[in-house]
Amino acid sequence: MAGNWKMYKTPRETATFFDHFKPLVDGYDRCDIVIFPPAIDIPAAVSAASGANIAIGGQNIYWGKEGAFTGEISAEMLTAAGARWTLVGHSERRHVVASETDAEVLKKTQAALAAGLTPIVCMGERLEDHKAGKTNEVLIRQFAGGVAGLTEEQFALVAAAYEPVWAIGTGQTATPEIAAAAHKLIREESEKRFGSDAAQKLRILYGGSVKPDNIRGLMKEFEIDGVLVGGASLDPESFSKIVKAA
Ligand code: PGA
Repeated sequence: MAGNWKMYKTPRETATFFDHFKPLVDGYDRCDIVIFPPAIDIPAAVSAASGANIAIGGQNIYWGKEGAFTGEISAEMLTAAGARWTLVGHSERRHVVASETDAEVLKKTQAALAAGLTPIVCMGERLEDHKAGKTNEVLIRQFAGGVAGLTEEQFALVAAAYEPVWAIGTGQTATPEIAAAAHKLIREESEKRFGSDAAQKLRILYGGSVKPDNIRGLMKEFEIDGVLVGGASLDPESFSKIVKAA
């Protein structure tokens, strides 16, 4: 159960969040709990979450180890700061703040793995694709250009997220059935490329307007292994309710 804070919260607000959130999930061990704060908050989050069952991740990495890449952060830097996970290829990076391509998503995923981070590789179709019935086509293309380029050993270490762009931050959630169908497709593509065992073990998260009042319907779906939550992860109470639906 993952929370993506996007560009919200200062280091001080991060510490306050954890003061409230930690007791709410204390001892809860039915799932991994991961929070992805803005990079500048990672040290505060790592320190606040130490000793708790909560891991910290980055929202983005660059594939180089170091170099003249103004504004970027390497996987090694995230690891050194105490992060254990990273998002890769979030739709806001693909379509809003950058124009990340599938090839870049693959390079970032490989860099994350080389540094010992667990990447959550995000995929999802835009509204126009959804309306045109092109969801499967987009997911197959993103899969083929991205994670399909990993080795079997690398693939065993990644998680995936299905995030229909039209459902992100819009209050419009994909129905559990729509999400489950997309997850099934990602699992089928995984099976074709990496075999049935690897496909069954892949954790696929759903993301897009997940809230405490729709989480149970989503988690009932066999295909949905967890969720990647934006807005509703900013509040300790609401995120703890979502976590406990695992
Ligand atoms: P949202 O964001 O829950 O605010 O829709 C989800 C995401 O982008 O990960």
